Amino acid sequence: MAASPPTHDTIIVLDFGAQYVQLIARKVREQNCYSEILPFDTPVADLLARRPAGIILSGGPSSVYEEGAPTVARELFEAGIPILGICYGEQLMAHLCGGEVTPGTEREYGHAMLEVVDEDELLRGVSGPAQVWMSHGDRVTAVPPGFKVLACSPNAPVAAMGHAERKLYGVQFHPEVHHTLCGADVLRNFLYGVCGCAGDWEPGSFIEETVQALRAQIGDKRVLCALSGGVDSSVAAALLNRAVPDQLTCMFIDHGLLRKQEAEQVQAVFWPMLGDRFVFVDAADTFLDKLEGVADPEQKRRIIGETFIRVFEEESSKLGEFDFIVHGTLYPDVIESGGGATATIKTHHNVGGLPADMKYTNVEPLRRLFKDEVRRLGRELGLPDEIVQRQPFPGPGLAVRVAGPISRDRVEMVREADAILREEIARVGWGGRLSQYFVVLLDTFSVGVMGDGRTYAHPVVIRAVTTEDFMTADWAKLPPELLGKIATRIVNEVKGVNRVLYDITTKPPGTIEWE
Ligand code: XMP
Repeated sequence: MAASPPTHDTIIVLDFGAQYVQLIARKVREQNCYSEILPFDTPVADLLARRPAGIILSGGPSSVYEEGAPTVARELFEAGIPILGICYGEQLMAHLCGGEVTPGTEREYGHAMLEVVDEDELLRGVSGPAQVWMSHGDRVTAVPPGFKVLACSPNAPVAAMGHAERKLYGVQFHPEVHHTLCGADVLRNFLYGVCGCAGDWEPGSFIEETVQALRAQIGDKRVLCALSGGVDSSVAAALLNRAVPDQLTCMFIDHGLLRKQEAEQVQAVFWPMLGDRFVFVDAADTFLDKLEGVADPEQKRRIIGETFIRVFEEESSKLGEFDFIVHGTLYPDVIESGGGATATIKTHHNVGGLPADMKYTNVEPLRRLFKDEVRRLGRELGLPDEIVQRQPFPGPGLAVRVAGPISRDRVEMVREADAILREEIARVGWGGRLSQYFVVLLDTFSVGVMGDGRTYAHPVVIRAVTTEDFMTADWAKLPPELLGKIATRIVNEVKGVNRVLYDITTKPPGTIEWE
């Protein structure tokens, strides 16, 4: 787990299994306060040793009355550290501090109106009735001694509670989700009003600190960075270039599965920045030959992952010896690899994300950051919008967007259709409203009619989603005229495609990609 930088106030988010735990940490950081997620059973002594400015107890699926329900030691509430309990966190605080939690007979799920009865510090400036988001079964029905009820809702008599002297607060609603309209205000009140944070977590200070730390770590040694063209590796490369410009070499491997113009864009940005320390490797034939006819998605991922490492090793050995290799690891990867037995739905392969056990020493300059922070940092480092705003693109690239067997022709079809989709989305200015949008080529045929003739060709699917965390996603409500225009262009301009479908599946039960 990344240790917090001693120079910043730290808010610790204790994870009780909430779906929204990462969102809480991100929303705290959006307010320029550094936050870290730790498991609920981190010993109190370890928590205190980190000298947190405050602690947030996340929500979670349990009931405080369940056997083995996650809990914390009572002494945490006696340590004098400001604490905010959210949902299950509030119930736990009430339960352990002497209040009353009543098992719910019905769940309150969705929007609710909050009636503020006492603003205190936590709800300062929140005038009720305020729209909040609830998702709970149990509820607090009596506050612990010395606590005050700060707000209620139709189904939660203690929708917010607090003890100003002890700086202990709890909310039954979720301030971190955007449906809670006063959520940012409540968090800000907690961070600044209750915890007294300085608000010094911002890209500028991060750059300076990281550049110093990188110089100390790397000394006069040589560093190699595999660029994928995505946001993470690009920002990592730009940071390293700021820290140790003369010792850095960046390698970009074109695996032939990139989007239209992608390789050119990456070259246009990094060639001027790095000159001949930027190495472009055209390995499209190597990858496409190995993938020809391969239909199984996991096999595609395996082949691409293995080939990538082989090409990388072969090409880097031509450049002499390196001591360090850069990984674009982000904080969510650090958290996720830290624990939990989550089911593998699909093996994610990150091109540019080389295995950590290669012969080099790893440098991971982004391992404390969330994606949106990486984008802010990229902007601060002067990277152009086309890189910083780039939507996520899976490491295996278009290979997982060609359903069924891979062939050069089929990759080309999906590449052309995807370019049309992106062009039309940009034309109407919808890009910023979508999290990800792309085209999938199906492995089936449909009959059509074009001119006077019958066609028997492939359908493609347009997928466009909005999401906060990519764990859940909603399909985007694109205007019908826009969809119509895209469909017409794809069918007219992409040879081999005669039908366009729009995917209206949420995640779950669907995933964002098709494979
Ligand atoms: P799913 O399809 O799992 O996707 O809902 C969630 C996010 O992950 C991306 N994705 C991948 N990224 N290698 C990657 O680097 C992969 O194999 C991979 N599969 C999915 C997907 O584009 C979405 O942003």
